[in-house]
Amino acid sequence: MSLLEVTDLRVSFSTPDGVVRAVRGVSFAVDRGRTLGIVGESGSGKSVSTQTLMGLTPGAKVSGQALFEGADLLTAGERRMRQIRGAEIAMIFQDPLSSLHPLYKVGRQIEEMIRAHEPDTGRDAVRKRAVEMLGTVGIPQPAQRAEEYPHQFSGGMRQRAMIAMALALNPKLIIADEPTTALDATVQAQILDLMRRLQREFDTALIMITHDLGVIADMADDVLVMYGGKAAEKARRRPLYYRPHHPYTKGLLQSTPSAAAGADRLRPIPGQPPSLINIPTGCVFHPRCEYVMDRCVTDEPVLDPVTGDDDPTHVSACWLPLEALGLGEDAERLRQRAVEEGRVRARPAAAANGGAPESSGAVDAIAEPPGPDADAGTDADTAGRDGPPGEDGGGTRGDGGTA
Ligand SMILES: Nc1ncnc2c1ncn2[C@@H]1O[C@H](COP(=O)(O)OP(=O)(O)O)[C@@H](O)[C@H]1O
Ligand code: SF4
Ligand SMILES: [Mg+2]
Repeated sequence: MSLLEVTDLRVSFSTPDGVVRAVRGVSFAVDRGRTLGIVGESGSGKSVSTQTLMGLTPGAKVSGQALFEGADLLTAGERRMRQIRGAEIAMIFQDPLSSLHPLYKVGRQIEEMIRAHEPDTGRDAVRKRAVEMLGTVGIPQPAQRAEEYPHQFSGGMRQRAMIAMALALNPKLIIADEPTTALDATVQAQILDLMRRLQREFDTALIMITHDLGVIADMADDVLVMYGGKAAEKARRRPLYYRPHHPYTKGLLQSTPSAAAGADRLRPIPGQPPSLINIPTGCVFHPRCEYVMDRCVTDEPVLDPVTGDDDPTHVSACWLPLEALGLGEDAERLRQRAVEEGRVRARPAAAANGGAPESSGAVDAIAEPPGPDADAGTDADTAGRDGPPGEDGGGTRGDGGTA
């Protein structure tokens, strides 16, 4: 089983305006030495998902399962969570000043971190390790810089110090939430490079959260695209960039200058992310989708394996033909045809919100299916088949009952 296996995570907040359903059934997994990128516009539930794993969403209503080395983080007590935070799972945030105390020297803060988890390690050894860590993350003259305060560091150096702190206890998993968003492009590239190098060196698992597909283009093994508190698409990195299925993924690619898609015609996704209090019916992306069909407005698509990709972990929650992959003309023709017909090939009937099964008359909407029954027989596990994107792919597609 994977180091971390999250299954059907749901998180909501009661507010005076109503219930905010920030995370609505998300599943993912990450293994040691691997990087999972979680991508989506602001407000898609990326931060809430991971903060909930760390017990950092007080007052939220939470359900699902998050097995970390087989034990559920969502039901772990506060004492166990204190052990886990920092020592086993470390977090890096966009703004290091939110994690670095302004009134303590940088070196001392790393030392305190180590000491809190290793009370028996001697003072000198702890100090030495803190300085070493600052050196490891590329801070010049680390012994001297250890004696300085956070405000004496530049933005990039502060982020390096945060990474040093995150790595000080050699955690098994690092969750980096927009770690480079506040940095300029050059420093961002340096920090990403550093993280990549250290992750390899320390064999850590990494969850990299970003709104920018470009950030993880060289980095992620697996990518989870989130929209409106749910997974829109999941795949390994290359298929995600080169053979996206979901129009939202496609939109992200076409609106990100640094992502794989041709940067010559940048096209922002029209419209705004949805309200998570009054969630659109059917497909949550439908108000913004250029391919919206009748059923998109009423039936909520579930994650289905795409057709004809060599990535068995590639799944997408969209009613377009499952073989319409990528940005090429053939795929576009398939999409346009589906839109014209307003319907797609029959699929498993288990639409999450109880949508009516597609009539068999729709089968001929797509002329050349690679196998008309490609999906047949999977309906039993359609609901919640939001499997982990681990290397071992289909084999681990599970529902977490493996504690
Ligand atoms: N404590 C909270 N109370 C109410 N709503 C919240 C709270 N925290 C986050 N949210 C809402 O949850 C949604 C998802 O937020 P978040 O996970 O931070 O998005 P992302 O990290 O993808 O930008 C947003 O609509 C946000 O306003
Ligand atoms: S299900 Fe429909 S509205 Fe949603 S992304 Fe696919 S085509 Fe667009
Ligand atoms: Mg966030």
